[in-house]
This record gives sequence, C-alpha cells and structure tokens, in this order.
Amino acid sequence: MSAIRAFFVFAAACSLPPIAAAIDGKQKVIINTDPGIDDSMAILLALASDELDVLGITVNLGSLHNTTVLAENALRVCELAGRTDIPVFVGSAEPLAMKFHDYGGPNFHGLDGLGNNHFPEPAGKINASMSAVEFLLSTVRAHPRQVAIISLAPVTNLALAIRMDPLFALQVKHVYMMGGTITEPGNVSPVAEANIANDAPAAKVLFNSQISVTVAGLDVTMHTHWTREYMRDLSTVNSAGHFINHIMQFYFDAYESIGFPYAPCHDPSAVMALLEPTVYEKQRYPLDVAVAQTGDAWHGMVIADRRNGPLSPTPAGFEAFPVVLTSVNQTAFMKSFRDRIARLSSPVMVVQM
Ligand SMILES: *[C@@H]1O[C@H](CO)[C@@H](O)[C@H](O)[C@H]1NC(C)=O
Ligand SMILES: *[C@@H]1O[C@H](CO)[C@@H](O)[C@H](O)[C@H]1NC(C)=O
Repeated sequence: MSAIRAFFVFAAACSLPPIAAAIDGKQKVIINTDPGIDDSMAILLALASDELDVLGITVNLGSLHNTTVLAENALRVCELAGRTDIPVFVGSAEPLAMKFHDYGGPNFHGLDGLGNNHFPEPAGKINASMSAVEFLLSTVRAHPRQVAIISLAPVTNLALAIRMDPLFALQVKHVYMMGGTITEPGNVSPVAEANIANDAPAAKVLFNSQISVTVAGLDVTMHTHWTREYMRDLSTVNSAGHFINHIMQFYFDAYESIGFPYAPCHDPSAVMALLEPTVYEKQRYPLDVAVAQTGDAWHGMVIADRRNGPLSPTPAGFEAFPVVLTSVNQTAFMKSFRDRIARLSSPVMVVQM
C-alpha cells in the first residue's frame, strides 16, 4: 500500500516524458471505460500489448455515477504504466433515456472505483479540449475503418456518437465490448449484466447499428476465474502486477461476500478477445436488448436469436451478425495475461521498488 501511494506521489511530483507516438502496423484503439477495478486491469493489459496503439480513453457512467472520479482513475492507471501521453476524455454521466442506477457498482469497486484505496490525485489532467463523444467522432473520421473501440462500460458514448453522425457506424472498424449474457444467469438481475442494464437503450442502439461487434459477456467472463494465488504471483512480476493484486483484494472480498471462492474476470476479456482470438470459441447471432423500466426483471436482457435458420436472416445492411464469445480457454487466458503484464515497464517503477 505505502509503495503504491509513494508511486503516485512520485508521479505527481515529476512530469513523465511521453512514450513514443503511434507506430505503423499497430491496431488503433479507443477504450471506452468506467474504471473500475477490472477496467483498470483491462487498460493495463491493453497498454502492455505491443499490437495496440491506444489513441485515447473515453469515460462514461458505469460503476459510479461521477465521471470525473472515473476519468481520474483512468489517468492514474495510465500514469502507473508510464503512459501520460494518452488523453482521457469525459463523456456522459447519464444513460440515454433512463435514470442512473449503480446496480451495486460501489460494492464491487469501492466508492472511489479502485477498492476504497483513495489514491492521491493523478499528475495529469482530464483532456477538456473536447468531449468523449467528440473525440470518438473526430478520431474515427480521421482514420476511417482503422479504429477499433474496446468498451468496458455501458456503451452510452458510442450510442451518442452513432446518433450524432451517420458516418460513424460505417467508419468504426469493430467494437469489442464486455457486456451481456446469453446462456449464463445475469449479475444484476436474473437475466441482465451490469454494463447492459446500466444503459440498455444505448446497447440497443449499438446492436441495431451497422457496426460489427464482438461481445464478451458473462458466458465467458464467469468461466475465467481470478484466484488470490494467481494475483499473489502476479504481484511479484512488476509494479503493475503489484498494483493489480492490491486493488483486487477489495474485489475478491466483494465476490467472497456473495459466495464466490474466486473473482470472475469481466473487462479484460474484451481486450483479450482482440489480442488473442484463439482463446475463445465464438458464434454469430443477431442481438437485441430488452428495454423496460429499471427494476423490471427483463430490463437489459440480451436477446440472441439462436434459431440459426430462415427465421433469423441477416438484416439488410449488416455485414454479419455480432460475434458472441461462447467459451474460453482459461489456462491460455491466464498465461497470456501474466506474460503481457510482465512486459509492462515504466521508468518510475524502478523508483517505487
Ligand atoms: C465528482 O467528483 C469530483 C472529484 O472528486 C468532485 O469535485 C465533484 O463535486 C463530484 N461531482 C458530483 C456531481 O458529485
Ligand atoms: C487533448 O487531446 C487532443 C486529441 O488527442 C490533443 O490534440 C490535445 O493536445 C490534448 N490537449 C491537452 C491539453 O493535452
């Protein structure tokens, strides 16, 4: 704990030089997120992976209502990885058409989103030159069919961008999202997962747009199990591993309190789906979302048409149905996650040890 606090104090005291800018051949990505303990792990996984060029981070409502707190967490995580060059933009704090509901987010992420550690202020500032939606629109417009979006939160910012500019949906390369469930029970209701339930109308907009989507839902995340032993080992590889193990203690405790001897791995699964597609088995299904008043049992349920026949044809204009991850090679996932995090290095990490 004190080492991590010391790190943030150190990072705040000196401004880190930006890491080398985009290198050709990398997949350009924007991460839409609400950090969030597992979001932070997913962001670190992305930053640790050479195949990706993270152009920016957009934040919207999710685990907490306060998007300033969430965006500052994104800055903290980038600073931990030595990536002060990545701009962080604040987006919508409100769902498209409903009242905000935290669905118990603070119980799993803490009131500060990072396990009630109340880390010091990040050194960097939220980029206020534009909103998250403006960043999504302008970046995708500047690189048509080249930018993939990884969404670890409700898809509110994406739905707003889709509504604002008809070209956006045609120019996004792909969306990899954590959300929903098809065959597993829900986690905020019998049938709904939190990211979708938080803003079901936004997910409906995304699934009914022409954007090609890969969905990492509870179907795979509930079968990817973090254990305390795994995290203890990860904590020895470097400062990022140490930080992950530290914030994960709150998450393990939260899951233990509802009867889980492990913690399911949600958000990093959407990043892994992009990095290591062979870790997953997949099916393509037409998807829609049930939207009811918050509190109704079916609100946020993802409806997958699994009939796979003439009654479920591809709607006109769609390249293909969304890809749904249906099973995971957990051993391969855990090895890849550890190997990648171990490659993260930052000049300040030496100081922290
Ligand atoms: C959100 O958090 C920030 C930073 O802690 C705080 O200054 C602000 O008042 C909060 N906003 C709301 C609406 O609570
Ligand atoms: C904010 O982000 C934009 C787009 O990446 C960038 O051009 C600009 O320099 C950033 N502003 C600050 C103050 O960092």
